[in-house]
Amino acid sequence: RTARFTLDPAFTVGDVSPRLFGSFVEHLGRCVYTGIFEPGHPAADESGLRTDVLELIRELGVTAVRYPGGNFVSGYKWEDGVGPAEQRPRRLDLAWRSTETNRFGLSEYIGFVKKIGPQAEPMLAVNLGTRGVAEALELQEYANHPAGTELADRRVAHGDKDPFGIRLWCLGNEMDGPWQTGHKTAHEYGRLAAETARAMRQIDPSVELVACGSSNQSMPTFAAWEATVLQEAYEAVDYISLHAYYEETEGDRDSFLASAVDMESFIENVVATCDHVGARLKSPKRINLSFDEWNVWYMSRFQEESEANPLEWPEAPRLLEDNYSVTDAVVFGSLLIALLRHADRVTVACLAQLVNVIAPIMTEPGGAAWRQTTFFPFAQASRYGRGQVLDVRVESPTYDTAKYGAIALLHATAVRDPQSGAVTVFAVNRSQTKALPLEVSLHGLDVTELVEHSALSDADPEARNTLDEPDRVTPHPAEGTSLRAGVLEAVLEPMSWNVIRLA
Ligand code: AHR
Repeated sequence: RTARFTLDPAFTVGDVSPRLFGSFVEHLGRCVYTGIFEPGHPAADESGLRTDVLELIRELGVTAVRYPGGNFVSGYKWEDGVGPAEQRPRRLDLAWRSTETNRFGLSEYIGFVKKIGPQAEPMLAVNLGTRGVAEALELQEYANHPAGTELADRRVAHGDKDPFGIRLWCLGNEMDGPWQTGHKTAHEYGRLAAETARAMRQIDPSVELVACGSSNQSMPTFAAWEATVLQEAYEAVDYISLHAYYEETEGDRDSFLASAVDMESFIENVVATCDHVGARLKSPKRINLSFDEWNVWYMSRFQEESEANPLEWPEAPRLLEDNYSVTDAVVFGSLLIALLRHADRVTVACLAQLVNVIAPIMTEPGGAAWRQTTFFPFAQASRYGRGQVLDVRVESPTYDTAKYGAIALLHATAVRDPQSGAVTVFAVNRSQTKALPLEVSLHGLDVTELVEHSALSDADPEARNTLDEPDRVTPHPAEGTSLRAGVLEAVLEPMSWNVIRLA
C-alpha cells in the first residue's frame, strides 16, 4: 500500500530556527582532546585545532555549539581553563572519572566556534551543581563585559581584548538526575535557576537562558519537574531543556525504528506542561524548547563496561565511541524529522555530541578524521531544512511495535524556502523488509522540477564507516522518482532515510 500526504504553503508549522542544527562539545573522552583539539597533529593550526575536523564540522552545518558539558560542567571551575595554558591546574573530572588537564578552556572554545564560521554561535553552560549564582555572574562578566572591571580586564590580559558576546546560556545540566554532581530537587533547582537567571539579567537583560528540564521522558520526576521549576523560573528564563537518547534493546529493531514516537510525545508533553504553567501564572509569555542533547547512544553498553572496569582517572580516554550503523542513521534521520515537525516550539537543538563521543565525526590521534553514517542526515537536514516547515499529515500503512503499538511506516516532514519556493521532503521508511510507495500531492506550490532524491540505506543493515573503510556508507541517488502534474511519486527503499528536493 501507498503512503500519502498533501503539501500546501497555506498550512505551515513554523519557521526553522538556525539553532535547530546545534551540536555539543563536552570535556568527555576524546571529544575535545584529539577530537577538535590536538596540537602537534599534522592538520593542527596555530591554536592546536584540527583543520581536517573543522572542515568536516563546516560540511555538517553545525550552528550553536553547547559547551563544556554535560555532566562535566556540574563539577567544573571555569577559571581553571583561562590564562596561560602551562599554569592551568590538572583536576579530577568526577563525571567521567578522568583527569582534566584544562589545556583547552573558554578562550580556545570561543576561537573554535569562530573558526567554524559565521553560522556558528556559542552556547555556554554554567555550573549549578557544585557552584551557584556568584560564579555564574563572574563567568558572565569575564566573558561578556568589555573592560574596566577586574574580571573583564583579566580576560583582556589573557589575550582576549574583545568580549565574547555569548548570548545563549544553560543554567546547569540535568539537575534532575541522581548521577549529577550536586543533583537537586525540582524545588531547590527551580529557586537556584530563577535566582541565577535574574542576576545574569542584571548584567545583561538580553541574554537567553535555558533552564534544565528532564534528562528523559521516563525519569520518575518527569513533568512534575518541569512544572515545579517553571513555577519558580517562568518569567526569568526563555527555554526549558529536553534530553533523549535512543538505542536498540533486546534485538527489538522495529521499536528502535519508531524511536521518534517517543521523541515527539516528549516534546508535546513538555509544551503542554510549559503552557499549563504559563496559564496558571496568567503569563502571555511562551517558553520554548531547547532539545540540547539528542542522539542514538548505546548507553547500556557504556554502563555495563564502566561498571565492569571503573576508570582510574585517565586523560582523554576512549569513551562513548559508538560506531553507527546504517540502521542507526535511519533512526537518527527520523529524530531530525521529529525536531523539524515541532519547529514552532523547538527552537534550539544540539546533537550530542560532535566529535568521537557518540558523534557524527570520528578521529584517530595523529591520524585521519571521517564521517559516521549519522553525518549524512544531519548535513542534509542542516543544508536543505531551512525555511518554513509545512504541515505534513501522513496517511500510511502501519506496522506493529512492541513498545509503541501500531506505528506509521512513513515518518516525514517538508521544508519550504520562502525566497525560492523550493521544497525539500525528508522521509523515513521504517520497514525493515519492504519498499514503501509514496505519493505527495502538491497544492499551491510553485515547484516543477525534481532536483534530487537522495537515499541512505544498505542491503546490510549493520553496514558502518570505519577508519579502514571510511566511505562504506554514503547516500546514493534513488531511482524511479517523478514529479508530474503536481504529484510527486517515489518508492522509499526498505529502512531508508530520504531527501527529495523540488524546485
Ligand atoms: O552526552 C553524554 C552525557 O549524557 C552528558 O554528559 C549528560 O548531560 C547526559 O546524560
